[in-house]
Amino acid sequence: MEWTREKRYRPYEQYSALELLELQAQANNSAYQLRYHIRPTSGLLNDPNGFSYFNGEWNVFYQSFPFGATHGLKSWMRTVSKDLVHWENRGLAIAPDTKFESHGAYSGSAHVVGDQLFLMYTGNHRTSDWTRVPYQVGAWLTQNGEVKKLSHPLIEQPTFASEHFRDPQLFEVDGKFYAVIGMQSQNNKRGEMVLYQANQVTGPWRFVGPIKTGIKDFGYMVECPNLVMVDGAPTLIFCPQGLSKNEFAYQNIYPNLVLQGESFDLATATLRRPGKLQNLDAGFDVYASQTFNAPDGLAYLISWVGLPDLTYPTDRENWANCLSQVKVLHQKDGQLYQSPVPAMKSLRGRSQVIDGQVTMVDDQAGQQIEFEVTIEPNQKGTLWLAADQILKRGLQVKFDTQNGKLILDRSKTDEPTAVEYGHTREIDLPANQAVKLRIFLDHSLAEIFVNDGAQVMTGRYFTRQSDQTVAFDRPTQVHGSLWQLNKM
Ligand code: FRU
Repeated sequence: MEWTREKRYRPYEQYSALELLELQAQANNSAYQLRYHIRPTSGLLNDPNGFSYFNGEWNVFYQSFPFGATHGLKSWMRTVSKDLVHWENRGLAIAPDTKFESHGAYSGSAHVVGDQLFLMYTGNHRTSDWTRVPYQVGAWLTQNGEVKKLSHPLIEQPTFASEHFRDPQLFEVDGKFYAVIGMQSQNNKRGEMVLYQANQVTGPWRFVGPIKTGIKDFGYMVECPNLVMVDGAPTLIFCPQGLSKNEFAYQNIYPNLVLQGESFDLATATLRRPGKLQNLDAGFDVYASQTFNAPDGLAYLISWVGLPDLTYPTDRENWANCLSQVKVLHQKDGQLYQSPVPAMKSLRGRSQVIDGQVTMVDDQAGQQIEFEVTIEPNQKGTLWLAADQILKRGLQVKFDTQNGKLILDRSKTDEPTAVEYGHTREIDLPANQAVKLRIFLDHSLAEIFVNDGAQVMTGRYFTRQSDQTVAFDRPTQVHGSLWQLNKM
């Protein structure tokens, strides 16, 4: 079916319950379906929203178009969890049903205020001549899960911003509220992040200024900015679009970047002594990550695994994308570390240990596994995942621990995707040292934590589910464990 504009913006109530049930069944029955990650119950999922801890539960909402694999009229779906691993879908939370969000309840964040959760997000409105008008709007989520929208926007489009002014990230410092918003400037059409402040979360909101980072140019737009504290270091995590590759080398259509500083001056919106721009994820398709400082003092992160403007093989099954697993952030000497949350171990089922010169790990491992492996120094070869028995087809992790290289290669999977952006992603490792990998597969998603999360490589891959082998292409000196993982 062709997704005309009219179809993409058709009101939700014009779909029948039966249509939705069919789409849900189709998504659920897909061979590529994720079994322990947040995924759309139907249609398309994109950014995580409103990541928070409220009323004894972790909350992750996500951008959703429930009626097909296209970026149509967006709403927020809600999922909750007790342990950041087992998520329960609570369904539609923010329907695009007011004037301000007539063309989509776009991305935003959440923060506990009193005994309710305050949601701050972008209402995407279009006029009859299709001019986009962004509003930053607010809603309360009560303890019994009711959403009460404010009747007026919190922030209207300022004259210095183009129509691209969105994705507020709300946080509180010393009883004051702040929001970082992504935007494009009106005069020169360049991307920026700006800071707003309010004494009460419902406003009035005051413009503090553009966030000063020392980076000269962020391309033509910045989406989904976040500012969090990671072990005392202010950390900006954001998605610049159209960023020059001279500013930062990246391969994905749009990168998701990290910039840490020594301190952040909220009065002047200045990141002091910024370090170097870093890629948040060295894989194929992490984007729109959302992070927040939880009551336990830690910074948690979750990402959309998918990218704007790309198509995926599941589009033909009318669903698309998923969220990453949740990661805990730490930093040491200017290096960001991302680790699985402790409860990920609760998914572990049947296990086996490997040690020594290993070639075959398991020819029936399947694609719902965790594989923790240390590859010794001076080893070179290929680790095949989700592979057929003769190692002709599958996802490849090529390693060279002598020269310090690791390459994730999707070229031998059944349905290589986004090939115009390359089949491989490569990272450098310390030379002449062992490399420690913690690999998660979930049917069409690979997440690889390298050296305790100093780097992470995430990627969707699409290959047949009967390809169940985990093996090295030659005898390799390794030790580690492989686990079957339970369903969420
Ligand atoms: C990023 C994004 C956001 C926007 C949302 C709409 O993927 O484009 O900037 O709020 O998706 O779904």
